[in-house]
Amino acid sequence: MPSLLKEYAEFFRQFRARYETTGAILPSSRFLARALTRPLALHTRPVRILEVGPGTGPVTRRIVGLMRPEDRLDLVELNDQFVAILRDRLDSEPQFRAVAEQTRLHHCPIQEFRADKPYDFIISGLPLNNFSPELVEEIFDCFFRLLAPEGVLSYFEYMFLRAVRMRVGRRNERQRLRGVDQVVSRYLSRYRFRRDWVFCNVPPAWVQHLRRDG
Ligand SMILES: C[S@@+](CC[C@H](N)C(=O)[O-])C[C@H]1O[C@@H](n2cnc3c(N)ncnc32)[C@H](O)[C@@H]1O
Repeated sequence: MPSLLKEYAEFFRQFRARYETTGAILPSSRFLARALTRPLALHTRPVRILEVGPGTGPVTRRIVGLMRPEDRLDLVELNDQFVAILRDRLDSEPQFRAVAEQTRLHHCPIQEFRADKPYDFIISGLPLNNFSPELVEEIFDCFFRLLAPEGVLSYFEYMFLRAVRMRVGRRNERQRLRGVDQVVSRYLSRYRFRRDWVFCNVPPAWVQHLRRDG
C-alpha cells in the first residue's frame, strides 16, 4: 500500500480506537500544516521548536522542511502507534532523516514533559475540544511554561465546532464544552495576535497564533 494511504489508514484506525485523544478522522492537510508553521517559516536565527501531538507527522513533514542545521525539534506524542510511525519516518524518509540528529521524539503526555530550555515555537495538534476544562487549563499552562518570552504558540481547532456542539450536544457535553470555551477564550483574548482560516482541510480549521504580548 502506498505510504500516504497507509498513514491515512492508521490514523483512521486510531481515531476509532482512541477517539478522545486522536480527535480527528484524517491527518491535517498540507494547507493546515502551512498555516501552523507560518511564523516558523519566517525565522532567521537558530530556534528551538516543540511539536505537541504530531500524530503520523503531516505537520512535522512541513516543520522538518523548514529547519536549518542549528535548529532543534522536540516531538511529544502520547500514542504508541504514532510514536512508532514517527520513529520509522525519522529512520527512513530522506526529509526526516536529514534532521534526525537535531530531533528528539518523546513518548509521553505533554503534561508530563519537562524541558531544560524554553521553545521559540510551539505547534500543537491537540484536540482541546475533547478534553475537560481542567485538562485544557493544564495544557495551556504547560504551553506557556515551555514558551520563550518572545515565543509563538500556534494550534488549530475545527471551525465553529465547539460553538455548534455547545448548542446541540447532551447537557453534560454542553456544560463541558462551555467550560473549555471559557478557558480557550480567556487565552485567546489575552494572547492571540493572528488567526488563519484554512478551508482546504477535513474539516476546515482555524489556526490560532498566540504570544505573550498578544
Ligand atoms: C488531532 S490529532 C493531530 C495529529 C497531527 N498533528 C495532525 O495534524 O494530523 C491529535 C494528536 O494529539 C495526540 N495527543 C492527544 N493528547 C495528547 C497529550 N496529552 N500529549 C501529547 N499528545 C497528545 C494524539 O495522540 C494525536 O496524535
